[in-house]
Amino acid sequence: TYVVTENCINCKFQDCVTVCPVDCFYEGENFLVIHPEECIDCGVCEPECPADAIRADTEPGLDEWLALNAKYAEIWPNITEIGTVPPDAEDWNGKPDKAGLLIT
Ligand code: SF4
Ligand code: F3S
Repeated sequence: TYVVTENCINCKFQDCVTVCPVDCFYEGENFLVIHPEECIDCGVCEPECPADAIRADTEPGLDEWLALNAKYAEIWPNITEIGTVPPDAEDWNGKPDKAGLLIT
């Protein structure tokens, strides 16, 4: 599966949802997640994210983010079309230590 990671927080550009062939993104207030059991590993979302926040779970060190994606994909609503992008999304792109800002 692919996994949404920290740099999505407060950026939430949503380009990812427009390309996913199986519509497996789920939307929180300031973050999106991928449903690990619905993702077919096509990889097309990874280069679409302007925040470079999407990773293949074959990369090391993603266990926490994978667990978080799995958890909230069961709770948050599905998102299939791009909605409102935060006006300050670019300001947050690349900011360190955003994990504590995640709104669940
Ligand atoms: Fe969707 Fe493909 Fe990205 Fe998985 S890898 S979330 S199936 S676009
Ligand atoms: Fe987040 Fe990137 Fe999608 S910032 S909403 S993972 S395009």
